Amino acid sequence: MTDNSTAAGIPTIDPATLDGTAPEATASAHPEIDWATLGFSYIRTDLRYLAHWKDGAWQPGQLTADNVLHISEGSTALHYGQQCFEGLKAYRAKDGTVNLFRPDMNAARMRRSCDRLLMPQVTDEMFIDACQQVVAANLRFLPPYGTGGSLYLRPFVIGVGDNIGVRTAPEFIFAVFCLPVGPYFKGGLSPVNFVVSEYDRAAPNGTGAAKVGGNYAASLMPNRDAHQQGFGDCIYLDPETHTKIEEVGSANFFAITHEGRFVTPKSPSILASITKLSLLDLARDRLGLEAVEGDVFIDDLSAYKEAGACGTAAVITPIGGIQYKDDFHVFYSETEVGPVTRRLYQELTGVQYGDVEAPAGWIVKVQER
Ligand SMILES: Cc1ncc(COP(=O)(O)O)c(C=O)c1O
Repeated sequence: MTDNSTAAGIPTIDPATLDGTAPEATASAHPEIDWATLGFSYIRTDLRYLAHWKDGAWQPGQLTADNVLHISEGSTALHYGQQCFEGLKAYRAKDGTVNLFRPDMNAARMRRSCDRLLMPQVTDEMFIDACQQVVAANLRFLPPYGTGGSLYLRPFVIGVGDNIGVRTAPEFIFAVFCLPVGPYFKGGLSPVNFVVSEYDRAAPNGTGAAKVGGNYAASLMPNRDAHQQGFGDCIYLDPETHTKIEEVGSANFFAITHEGRFVTPKSPSILASITKLSLLDLARDRLGLEAVEGDVFIDDLSAYKEAGACGTAAVITPIGGIQYKDDFHVFYSETEVGPVTRRLYQELTGVQYGDVEAPAGWIVKVQER
């Protein structure tokens, strides 16, 4: 779907400037993007990376201006959901350099997703190089430092080629495209209310831990229902006992106990959020908190004074309250952000934008070409 409309605060970009041959990559910002109103919607950028897997190996990838994929009608990605994807961001730092946040973690998670769906692995080197190339080729779309925006990268692998039976595809495509996105909270960090869904997004021994499209197809209706009821998103309980919080539609969950312990659910059917893993380290090493992965029982929310959702897109979304059946549980405040959540947000975004020293290996600088 192409969406260059002004709906939901999306900037209007004259398609004429985006069609045809891509302009030279430049460090200057795109003149037609209003960084202040940038949301999270598709914007066609200049170049994307594409590589084919044929005859048992990945062929050399290259950048292309074409944002349309031409694939067989028999592609397994279309019929049997043989596909996986990733999401990570590039940030413009104050000194003008460009930071990729933990791309090695996304590369490793995509290898695990590929394994789960019988797709060929993309090496970490190929993954990070493709991300580097795409950012470097679209620098004019990178939101300037101080706007709170970033360049969102969407790597994916899909099964393609002529096929009809339920089996792994004869060929694959690995691609990476990017688009500029605005800060999650336009008016500053503010709490959002969530509702517990009656649906499951994944089965106990299913594909919940892999970042594959089927999990997201399952979450479309619960997400729509949550929005229609006035909530930011829904929370899923563990599919086996429906007693423990699993995660949000596109983010992991964390909570802070009254004693100041950082707790985030541990489950084989949730996505291993890179933001969550980073917060575990930051909570422990920078905030001096005890930080653990464990059970968060839905009947025991009063044990926690703060809660939040965390992910690449959500960053840290403070949770004001959770609706569970007829009960609406309010955390620190339905309208104000708890102090621990705020400090975690500052530390995380500080590392991502280069304002706070990053733990070793967390920031990979984009080589401007
Ligand atoms: C289902 C789900 N859980 C959690 C996350 C957060 O993961 P990460 O922090 O790696 O973005 C995401 C987003 O990618 C997600 O889609």
